[in-house]
Amino acid sequence: MKKSILFLTVVSAVALYSCTRSIQVANTSNEIPKLPTTPFNYIEGKLPGGQTIKSFSENNFNNGGFGISFDMNGNPVNTNSLKVTNEGASLGRVLFYDKKLSLNNTISCGTCHQQDKAFTDGLALSKGFEGRITSRSTMAIMNPIAQRNLFWDSRSSNLEDLALRPVTNHIEMGMDNMDRLITKLANTSYYPDLFKKAFGTSTISAKNISSALSQFVGSITTADSKFDRVEGSQMQGPSASFSELEAIGQNLFQQNCASCHAGLNFIADDSPTGAYGGGGDFNAGTTNKKGATNIGLDFVYADNGLGNGNFKIPSLRNIAVTSPYMHDGRFKTLEEVLNHYTNGIKPHAKLDVKFKGANSSVKPIILSDIEKKAVIAFLNTLTDQTMLKDPKFSDPFQN
Ligand code: HEC
Ligand code: HEC
Repeated sequence: MKKSILFLTVVSAVALYSCTRSIQVANTSNEIPKLPTTPFNYIEGKLPGGQTIKSFSENNFNNGGFGISFDMNGNPVNTNSLKVTNEGASLGRVLFYDKKLSLNNTISCGTCHQQDKAFTDGLALSKGFEGRITSRSTMAIMNPIAQRNLFWDSRSSNLEDLALRPVTNHIEMGMDNMDRLITKLANTSYYPDLFKKAFGTSTISAKNISSALSQFVGSITTADSKFDRVEGSQMQGPSASFSELEAIGQNLFQQNCASCHAGLNFIADDSPTGAYGGGGDFNAGTTNKKGATNIGLDFVYADNGLGNGNFKIPSLRNIAVTSPYMHDGRFKTLEEVLNHYTNGIKPHAKLDVKFKGANSSVKPIILSDIEKKAVIAFLNTLTDQTMLKDPKFSDPFQN
């Protein structure tokens, strides 16, 4: 049985490989993006807690997150600064939704990252170039500018660095040759002008493609959920209050979940002294936990993530619209996620200490059925219709 699966895998791998070799670069399509005459205002985009994209990048917090990080000498750690301009992000939006970025004009970033699902696609694993399946579940894109660790295995800490990865990744977009992409974009009616507006030159380069894409991705913010209006963290618009059930849920969340899904972004505290950070020595690298941990999904992980079954502690903003859940999309509902935390945690050797009981037993989270309903009611308050519908994040080839 196992042998035949292995054999099939080898056969299909060989088949896939030979297919790619014979693929012709398809002609560019004639679709033209519809753009507003004045670019959308990306730089005033609101982050939770009152920051804007502009103030955030001007302060050079960049990927340092809200809790700005410091090195051992107390100097701010500033490895890259993402400067967003409205023209740059506008170009990035077109690139994000343009299928020309894939080898055969079939896949764009937006194929997998769909706005109405907080930039996920509702699938456990996604279909990329030539129907090939991604090895992990598509991640939501939300306030990435305020996150230090990107991807399920926290492998990237740099937005600019990540933007080009999927394009050249064979599974996702199959575009393996940058020069070919540059020629393709230069031959369209709209790109030279958009590059000129964004960078002052109509000459297209890999660096500028990358910069524009990361400016757009970096400007995707969410700060207008019911939660934000209750907490006052959206700093504008009407305030709101939680229902009794939501308030109970928030309390339970604080007690059981917020040690990992922390702060206004519901991500790990990976500051130098944070539980999932560098343990006081952020720059040393060796002790940096990169905001990831092991929650005992399996005894043996098919995918070990960052290593030892550690995966990024993901943001829970807009969680109601990003099903299915976990790095492999194994859970369809939030009930199933909660059942994992109450009954499903496996005593993996590298399990997070929070879930470790005596004598390598598991210490689960204890929640009654009604308490689970309350937690879910609270999680539902994290949905932000403003972000899910904002025209500035929408597909310019669609409307
Ligand atoms: C075929 C589907 C697919 C396409 C196309 C795709 N992605 Fe992704 N994206 C994924 C998957 C799957 C992951 C998680 C990968 C992993 O962790 O190994 C991901 C992760 C990300 C993340 C990390 C989010 C976080 O919070 O850590 C960002 C940002 C991102 N993609 C941006 C892009 C951009 C920009 C493009 C286009 C250039 C793109 N993606 C194209 C499937 C896709
Ligand atoms: C010890 C840290 C930790 C605690 C405590 C914790 N989580 Fe998680 N959570 C994680 C990690 C890590 C993942 C991703 C695991 C993976 O995909 O392999 C995750 C994933 C999730 C997901 C899926 C997110 C997605 O985008 O797929 C949800 C929902 C979630 N947690 C909710 C909760 C709730 C609700 C609680 C409290 C009842 C909780 N978590 C407690 C670390 C934690």
